[in-house]
Amino acid sequence: MNTSFGNLTGKKIFITGGSRGIGAAIVQKCAELGATVAFTYSSQQAAAENILKNLPGSGHTIHQLNISNSENVDQVFDDVIKAHTEIFGVVNNAGITKDQLLLRMKNEDFQSVIDANLTGTFYVTKNFAKHMLKNRKGSFVNISSVIGAMGNAGQSNYAASKAGIEGFTRSVALELSSRNIRANVIAPGYIKSDMTNALSADQLKKLSDKIPIGKAGEAEDIANAVVFLLSDAASYITGQTLHINGGLYLS
Ligand SMILES: NC(=O)c1ccc[n+]([C@@H]2O[C@H](COP(=O)([O-])OP(=O)(O)OC[C@H]3O[C@@H](n4cnc5c(N)ncnc54)[C@H](OP(=O)(O)O)[C@@H]3O)[C@@H](O)[C@H]2O)c1
Repeated sequence: MNTSFGNLTGKKIFITGGSRGIGAAIVQKCAELGATVAFTYSSQQAAAENILKNLPGSGHTIHQLNISNSENVDQVFDDVIKAHTEIFGVVNNAGITKDQLLLRMKNEDFQSVIDANLTGTFYVTKNFAKHMLKNRKGSFVNISSVIGAMGNAGQSNYAASKAGIEGFTRSVALELSSRNIRANVIAPGYIKSDMTNALSADQLKKLSDKIPIGKAGEAEDIANAVVFLLSDAASYITGQTLHINGGLYLS
């Protein structure tokens, strides 16, 4: 077992939502640390192909995924196993927002965020857990959000989905630990990406003022922690949530 920090040599990792933002940084970091990656995109095929073309190493693959559709998740799982035979690590990163104040939130906008962020994480985890149980090893890293712990006006759907991921992951950790499979959560704060680029300069300034470190984080700040939790250096860590937010949330 190679326990040097973040070493992923010889490991095969599946990452959802790898075409942009935090997911793209995770894909890049995993490949740089020696992993072979299979990653998904939803709408941005050209971006995913471009990332694939420039990754270090060989054998990486991309797959189109609509995470809200369980049959599509099953199909992608089959394709990934066909291409890679064995997957060691899974990063449940794909996620969406549909912000609105509670009284104006449409039922379908509450449901679609839960479907993508929480139910999608369940679909992916169930498929790969079955696979990992046969191999008697594996590591899940699920991406939640500081909003799951703090709440946020206008994001009740998103906060519920992300808090759900944390309880889900603790339960998965309890069910799978005895088979040498770990499951942890990373809860990012405000990280520069398309998701946060949608905020106005004024909103961003107000946010930065609340962050003790005084700025938004980079996607790489999250990727660094993901590769650690995936790696054997974290082999005694399971069922935990790691908050990475520049001090925004100190409970
Ligand atoms: N950015 C932040 O400040 C922040 C803070 C806390 C938590 N997070 C969490 O971190 C994760 C990544 O966030 P990000 O900011 O990097 O997001 P992003 O830039 O909006 O990227 C979202 C990714 O998810 C994919 N995706 C969207 N809908 C999908 C669907 N229905 N099925 C499968 N994949 C889908 C997208 O694919 P396409 O590109 O192909 O459309 C893209 O790869 C999310 O779970 C988010 O909630 C982000």
